[in-house]
Amino acid sequence: MDGFFTEQGNDVDNWTELMLIYNAALKQIETKIEILNEEFQHVHSYNPIEHIKSRVKTPESIVKKLKRQGREVNLENMVEYVNDIAGIRVICSFTSDIYTIAEIIGKQKDVKVISIKDYLVNPKPSGYMSYHMIVSTPVYLSDRTVDAKVEIQIRTVAQDFWASLEHKMNYKFEGNAPAHMKKELVECAEIVAKLDETMLQLNEEVQNYSTSAKEN
Ligand code: GTP
Ligand code: MG
Repeated sequence: MDGFFTEQGNDVDNWTELMLIYNAALKQIETKIEILNEEFQHVHSYNPIEHIKSRVKTPESIVKKLKRQGREVNLENMVEYVNDIAGIRVICSFTSDIYTIAEIIGKQKDVKVISIKDYLVNPKPSGYMSYHMIVSTPVYLSDRTVDAKVEIQIRTVAQDFWASLEHKMNYKFEGNAPAHMKKELVECAEIVAKLDETMLQLNEEVQNYSTSAKEN
């Protein structure tokens, strides 16, 4: 990202430009995922994606995050250390869809995978399950090209349902929810994992059935 922070006293301009870049990167990734979904419908008569949500982080949460990390609040640190300024959440029906989407997106020429966290294989102690990717993608400006990072969270409908309630609970209790509630949430996460697994198996059976029925 050359040239961004070389001028002094121009922070507001740079801030606006930076947000424009993150917004562009977000739109690009979102479009890529939408195109994938449409193409899947066309080729396989199947939509791997239930819905997509995207957002750009508010200035308040960017500042909060940098402070939590114990860093000085400036644009350079923001670009370097806040990986989720642009964030997109992809909600799928089945766990297999998560890996399909992650793999196809990761292979695209103008997407660089910076990091992956697979909380399906290794759920958080809270019970949280989701597949996270930090990617970067080039944004073409009138006079130069800059890479911008986007956080992609991919999860099933059931995992999203769980995460929404857990998030609400954490917010209400400011992270100190009663022990019995935490325990019950962990149990719910196990149920979610079991549900996702059974639904996947059932779906595979449905697909195999229609294939063999067509052959006969
Ligand atoms: P953050 O500083 O929170 O962004 O976490 P991180 O840098 O360690 O990255 P991680 O990939 O673990 O988490 C990124 C994002 O995933 C969070 O901002 C949340 O949106 C979501 N997330 C992570 N852990 C949990 C969790 O236990 N519960 C819920 N509801 N969401 C979570
Ligand atoms: Mg975050």
